[in-house]
Amino acid sequence: MTGIGKSFLGVRVLKGVDLEAAAGEVHAVVGENGAGKSTLMKILAGVHTPDEGTIEIDGRSVAFGHPVEAQRAGVAIIYQEFNLLPERTVAENVFLGREPVRRGLVDRSAMETATGELLRSLGEESFGPRDLVRRLSVAQQQVVEIAKALSLNARIVVMDEPTAALADHEVELLYTLVRRLTARGIAVLYISHRLREIFELADRITVLKDGARVATAAASSLDTAALVRLMVGRELDSYFPPRAVEPPGEALLSVRGGGNAKLRGIDLDLRAGEIVGLAGLQGSGRTELAKALFGAEPFTSGEMTPCRPRSAREGIAAGIGLVTEDRKAEGLLLNQQVRDNALLVARAARRPRAGVDRLLERVRLNPPRPKQEVRLLSGGNQQKVVLAKWMIVAPRVLLFDEPTRGVDVGAKAGIHDLMRELARDGMAILMISSELPELIGMSDRIVVLRDGRIAGELPAGSTEEAVMHLAAAS
Ligand SMILES: Nc1ncnc2c1ncn2[C@@H]1O[C@H](COP(=O)(O)OP(=O)(O)OP(=O)(O)O)[C@@H](O)[C@H]1O
Ligand SMILES: [Mg+2]
Repeated sequence: MTGIGKSFLGVRVLKGVDLEAAAGEVHAVVGENGAGKSTLMKILAGVHTPDEGTIEIDGRSVAFGHPVEAQRAGVAIIYQEFNLLPERTVAENVFLGREPVRRGLVDRSAMETATGELLRSLGEESFGPRDLVRRLSVAQQQVVEIAKALSLNARIVVMDEPTAALADHEVELLYTLVRRLTARGIAVLYISHRLREIFELADRITVLKDGARVATAAASSLDTAALVRLMVGRELDSYFPPRAVEPPGEALLSVRGGGNAKLRGIDLDLRAGEIVGLAGLQGSGRTELAKALFGAEPFTSGEMTPCRPRSAREGIAAGIGLVTEDRKAEGLLLNQQVRDNALLVARAARRPRAGVDRLLERVRLNPPRPKQEVRLLSGGNQQKVVLAKWMIVAPRVLLFDEPTRGVDVGAKAGIHDLMRELARDGMAILMISSELPELIGMSDRIVVLRDGRIAGELPAGSTEEAVMHLAAAS
């Protein structure tokens, strides 16, 4: 891609960007939220047409008017939100729209055989061509997308934040898949905010900033600090804000023997001024616990003070807030302005508060346009609106489920500072994060869940090994 430029609504979001990917390489594209990464990839995939610049594949100049044309030219893009049909089988999805036909009928067995071979070539044994997509985990659906890309003979595979919805152990599987693709000579373009992944996988890294390319370099020539400097344009200390110095205050929320279909015997206090980290493996019940405390999926047994909320509405009324991990379910009004979205809960709780714009600045909404429609924001910026929406209400207890997922490194630091400030002002905070360094760095103590029960508690500054041990021990 050479000199790619693109404007939306008169704003230049890509400015003469060059990008090159060689056969068999993983080329990572990194940058802050709103830098233009997804837009550049959508241009490659024929979703958007560039205003300027050229694209060449195998030395031949191409111009895509439609995603199907890009697909035919060998470009496959795997979005975070998959395009699979849940009620169809794996094989049907892989061959959607180009089913093999024999004697006028769809040749199911040919389709299933071919799909089976593709899955085997990817080392996938946990499901088969006849399984319904709706029964598959996110990671398995990703494999289906990759199988589809292979069946289309893709030469270039784009992955836009592929690990954002994966559990830790699934991330390892994705690494293996990516390596299988490059071993076949496929070029993988890989977008992620997790720098660990970038250094694990990438051969080369291109950094975008405000729509322009600031660098392309061999991954081996950079370290985290250097990469962050390129992305953010300044030094960024890799430290978390200091933990609470004062002992925590009174318990603002207490549960004794809390239970429901997914949780058992939960005893937990969340006290004023503390950040409690909630750790556990995928499926251990972390999200379920946050939802039960909030009332969205209530406890059916046990005692809770100040009250046991039976619905989200009751939770909010009791002074509890929940930032869920699922942005879609967060009820952002996509066609409305950022500012109105940020005020959604405040208005519902009849607690209009001043200072929205300042808060949006603090979570580093980029570009800082409170009047922008939410649907036009990049993924990470939508997440910041969700955070602002709850922080503005300042509930007494705030539960965060993966608060910084999809958020860039610079903005992450800003959000961490804000969380610590809220705690210092007397809020009780519970935080779930699959990124252990973040969980450990932020928490005053860490509660570990296992199979829906509390397996134990660890003090601030415990090691990743200690957390994992407690989470996995049987
Ligand atoms: N369809 C659109 N209409 C108007 N503006 C858009 C549109 N799509 C993207 N933008 C704007 O283009 C800029 C780049 O967005 P893009 O989604 O490419 O960022 P990104 O680098 O992928 O960020 P993130 O890390 O948050 O995913 C942002 O300012 C975004 O608001
Ligand atoms: Mg993006």
